[in-house]
Amino acid sequence: MNVYDSERMADVLAPLGYGLSDSPDDADMVILNTCHIREKAAEKVYSDLGRLKPHQQKKAEDGSRMIIAVAGCVAQAEGDEIMARAPQVDMVFGPQTYHRLPEMVSKAKRAVGEKILDTDFPAEDKFDHLPEERVRKGEVTSFLTIQEGCDKFCTFCVVPYTRGSEFSRPATTVLQEARRLVADGVREITLLGQNVNAYHGEGAEGREWGLARLCRELAEIDGLERIRYTTSHPRDVDDALIAAHGDLPKLMPYLHLPVQSGSDRILEAMNRKHTADDYRRIVDRLRTARPDLALTSDFIVGYPGESDQDFADTLKLVTDIGYAGAFFFKYSERPGTPAASLREQVDDAVKSERLSALQQLLESQQEAFNASVVGKTMPILLEKPGKHENQLVGRSPYLQPVHLDIPENRHASMIGTVIDCKISSLSGHSLFAVPIDDAESGTDSATRHNTARPNPSEPSSGQERISA
Ligand code: 5AD
Ligand code: SF4
Repeated sequence: MNVYDSERMADVLAPLGYGLSDSPDDADMVILNTCHIREKAAEKVYSDLGRLKPHQQKKAEDGSRMIIAVAGCVAQAEGDEIMARAPQVDMVFGPQTYHRLPEMVSKAKRAVGEKILDTDFPAEDKFDHLPEERVRKGEVTSFLTIQEGCDKFCTFCVVPYTRGSEFSRPATTVLQEARRLVADGVREITLLGQNVNAYHGEGAEGREWGLARLCRELAEIDGLERIRYTTSHPRDVDDALIAAHGDLPKLMPYLHLPVQSGSDRILEAMNRKHTADDYRRIVDRLRTARPDLALTSDFIVGYPGESDQDFADTLKLVTDIGYAGAFFFKYSERPGTPAASLREQVDDAVKSERLSALQQLLESQQEAFNASVVGKTMPILLEKPGKHENQLVGRSPYLQPVHLDIPENRHASMIGTVIDCKISSLSGHSLFAVPIDDAESGTDSATRHNTARPNPSEPSSGQERISA
């Protein structure tokens, strides 16, 4: 979401004459858009500010000025502290206020030394006042925020405090924005929200729409080839959403569904509102509706009080489910969250051991998943030229980068199309493929297809079965 927010900040600042710069060297303004989710992410802000100092000094020596702003959730949570700790910072603003950037910038420009702090809520104002999203040149994929904030209050998490309570944008606005993105060449939209499947935006007839209904309407947009959404909570996977996964070919069979832990005791302590078996059942139902569905997840190791047995339960869940990828973190104490005041904090050495065991298991699953698609035919959305001459890069339904040898003179007509390709090999995390027509006939008559789908839960020759 920070990537999306940063792009929107650039949209807000464009009318003022600001454009994106590749380096801070000669920048007139630097905005650090920050994340507060774990301590490491928050600490990065101060080290980045330190690195900016010489650039800011050089700019001053040259007789001009570099405005420095800290945005995002660290700004929201620690605004006053940033002002006190980093006097070089001119503006501090939270994730719900960046539509007011023009006012803030003009104030900062007028008054050298005056510090600007804006960490107000709520989210409604922001979306009402943001300019239309611009499609960056040639982009075929785009994020689209439909929901922000969270009411779940997992005991380890700062999101309900930094992003605020759950808010859904009206479905009509979302559809309008999606149509405009597609008219500008976008072919894949990833719907964003901290708790995206809690979406309940107002629909055309004044009734609330859930995420499933929204996806069904989006799927009607001609030219939109792929729909994704992230991040979901298992509790909010309802019957309608499971049915949508079965019914909508445009809804990609790749779902990020964080579970955090496989131990019921820890899940309860985390206030996750589901058990490990609830999660297994949801995954079973999703896979029944969409057999080629692949899953990714987030995991936390070393939550206060986590025992060896609790951790073993997590490894068991991972083995049962079989993931195509995952993010895994050591529990990080976040000030102000209920878990931070628990006494049974887990030793860092134990956390490290558990993290590495979990990482090993998840990485081996990811490798097996990637290897399982070799030899299969998959629809690839072609996104951009590759690093090498006569190469195009696209994405599989599972977001794997796929490289194709395509003569340069055909790139312009092929970027933004979905073609069926036979996956020929795997190197690291990258796949290499041949358009299916080329693979079959030896000609270069690649045409546009959008039907065939692999079934990653089928074991490929010599590969372990990777899904439950
Ligand atoms: N410590 C470690 N990981 C955390 N996450 C959220 N809060 C914490 C924390 N305090 C992880 C969760 C979440 C992901 C975005 O970040 O796994 O799903
Ligand atoms: Fe944080 Fe996600 Fe839990 Fe909400 S559901 S509190 S965003 S971990």
